[in-house]
Amino acid sequence: MNNTPYTAPFPVSRMRRLRGSNALRDMLQEHHVSVNDLVYPMFVEENLDERTPITSLPDVFRETEQSIVTAAKEAHDLGINAIMLFGVSHNKDESGSDSMSESGLLYRMIDRVKQAVPDLLIIADTCFCEYTDHGHCGPINAKGGVDNDATLENLAKQAIIAARAGADIIAPSGMMDGMIGAIRAGLDSDGFEETPTMSYAAKFASCFYGPFRDAAGCSLENAPEGLRNDRKTYQMNPANADEALREVALDIAEGADMVMVKPGMPYLDIICRVKDTFKVPTFAYHVSGEFAMLKAASEKGWLEYDDALMETLLSFKRAGCDGVLSYGALDAARLLQKK
Ligand code: PBG
Repeated sequence: MNNTPYTAPFPVSRMRRLRGSNALRDMLQEHHVSVNDLVYPMFVEENLDERTPITSLPDVFRETEQSIVTAAKEAHDLGINAIMLFGVSHNKDESGSDSMSESGLLYRMIDRVKQAVPDLLIIADTCFCEYTDHGHCGPINAKGGVDNDATLENLAKQAIIAARAGADIIAPSGMMDGMIGAIRAGLDSDGFEETPTMSYAAKFASCFYGPFRDAAGCSLENAPEGLRNDRKTYQMNPANADEALREVALDIAEGADMVMVKPGMPYLDIICRVKDTFKVPTFAYHVSGEFAMLKAASEKGWLEYDDALMETLLSFKRAGCDGVLSYGALDAARLLQKK
């Protein structure tokens, strides 16, 4: 037998000795989920009369510009420190210009929540797919591709708008090369040198975003031929791990204060390597499709939702995450209070 160092062989060592009671197990638990780890993603739709359930994301709502305040207060009252806000726009165009305007939805929703619940951290998802009529994360250029460098200029503008509205953290999710550098320069030039960035540094072109695209109304149905089905020219190939480390290295070099891996559970290996390699604050996005799977299986009676959710969140902590974005954040916060 190939014993690991410092471990005597059986029968001197008996691993079960330390598993005999709840108290012993609790005392020796290596990793914990706390309410401080949780970030709650929320959707705000303009021109909506009342908050509307999202079919493919059970118990998650599209909030109105009014109801978002109540919902954000509820999260804050449960001890959640941070929410991530997504806009569901009715004013889309080629470049997503509504998100770069002080009268646009992005500005209004951040401003409203910040005024009403100032202690709750607002993370601004900084991207264009919710605001472009073709659904891509940046404008389409003459060559028929998503234009990286034109997107960078726009990202800097959108980040400034979000910061002016009161966003505490800027989180670009579009996987454009140079996005952190462009946003950092933009923020600094407008007096926001203290506003941190959380980069969706390693974001994979994943099928697990399906329910989100329904929720945020950012499907690619109206995209030009050739760009209709996926975001593979900018999001990463799910088969690549070394490349994810390069993505993270580049973002850190450009000034990213925190990094994210997305999706979460199918990419725990990436989280682990990122944390081990860079030792920077690392987050995972437990994305819509992952959450929907938990809900669907528990609705069928095949999984116990509460247990499955907490075990999932724990897996992120064990892999090395400092925090997790999850649609189950409120449920987890309630469960943690009960314990
Ligand atoms: C937008 C964005 C997406 C998600 C977060 N920000 C969708 C996408 O890239 O297609 C997905 C979140 C989820 O699935 O829960 N860039």
